[in-house]
Amino acid sequence: MGAGSLGQVFAGLLAHSGQRVTLLSTPVTAARLLEIGHICIRGAQRVDVPVARPPAAAGAVALTDDPADLPDEIGLLFTTKAHHLEEAVTAVQAVWPRSGDATSWVAGLQNGLFKDDVLVDAFGTERVVGAVTITSAERRQDGEILFTSPGVSYLGSFDSRQAARERAATSLLNDAGLPAEPADDIRSVLWTKACNAAGIFGVALLTRVAGSALLANEGRARAYVALIKETAAIARSEGVETGNLERFPPIRTYVDRPADESVRSLVAASSAADDGLAPTPSMLQDLLAGRGLEVEEVFGDLVRRAQCNGVSAPRLELVTELLRGLDPQL
Ligand SMILES: NC(=O)c1ccc[n+]([C@@H]2O[C@H](COP(=O)([O-])OP(=O)(O)OC[C@H]3O[C@@H](n4cnc5c(N)ncnc54)[C@H](OP(=O)(O)O)[C@@H]3O)[C@@H](O)[C@H]2O)c1
Repeated sequence: MGAGSLGQVFAGLLAHSGQRVTLLSTPVTAARLLEIGHICIRGAQRVDVPVARPPAAAGAVALTDDPADLPDEIGLLFTTKAHHLEEAVTAVQAVWPRSGDATSWVAGLQNGLFKDDVLVDAFGTERVVGAVTITSAERRQDGEILFTSPGVSYLGSFDSRQAARERAATSLLNDAGLPAEPADDIRSVLWTKACNAAGIFGVALLTRVAGSALLANEGRARAYVALIKETAAIARSEGVETGNLERFPPIRTYVDRPADESVRSLVAASSAADDGLAPTPSMLQDLLAGRGLEVEEVFGDLVRRAQCNGVSAPRLELVTELLRGLDPQL
């Protein structure tokens, strides 16, 4: 649900690999995509995937703005922005899952931890799969989706008895060219991504620097590491340890070792990096395009958790206030 950058990449590549996919969109974007007739993915893959009103033929994405068109016994990935998730969930929940559908599950690809609270409240813990994606994509003015990096996605239940569905789902994603792995400890993965998001978004939005240049400067690298350490302290107060994930910055190492060492290695590595198709952080894309920011769901949520748990997080508090000042929604 949500035919933006990630929604079009996931729907398009899954359909292209032979999966039956329904993409639930806003009316405006549904009308635009139906007029064009296909999802246009460029960058890490070059694929045009036909779209049609449901029921769509094999290889095409069934595109609709009506949640009643959602099939039974599916996995539903929410790919709206975090600040549109509650509205999207409310629309879906009114008609889906239907009685008798015991197997459907939901997951949110949004940044931050707030999204799983929304999904658990609406659908119950047993239907919610914790999800983290490092896949990246951008919407271009011409409607094309620039697929900047396949990255990797992690899926894991909050209820560990449900591991078979995550293995099945990650297998389908891998077949579609979207690297994915089941996660035994999805809370650790969620907090590890949250640490990086706090660091990258905080520094990128307040300096408007992206790509390898972001951390090639000592001051920016120091701010990034400090935001990671504060976020990891909040994770710890909730009983969660961060980790070092494959194809992702070594967050646990940044948490454990002295900041000076991390700053030196980040500046050296970033100065030598070749940007290639370097993704622009999704919240920076929103800032530059004048769209609303996920400040409350990513940063405000961390600050609230810190305050509830008695954890000191002064840098996160300051960054949150400054980002509220940049958010065109506020
Ligand atoms: N892009 C990335 O590289 C990336 C990477 C990791 C995580 N994320 C996270 O993934 C989430 C999605 O990011 P994105 O970049 O794909 O966002 P996006 O391009 O802005 O797409 C969001 C989509 O949700 C749609 N939407 C909003 N409300 C809706 C509703 N009620 N019903 C149906 N559709 C609705 C929007 O509709 P319109 O088409 O009408 O605008 C838009 O198509 C964000 O939380 C982001 O932080 C993004």
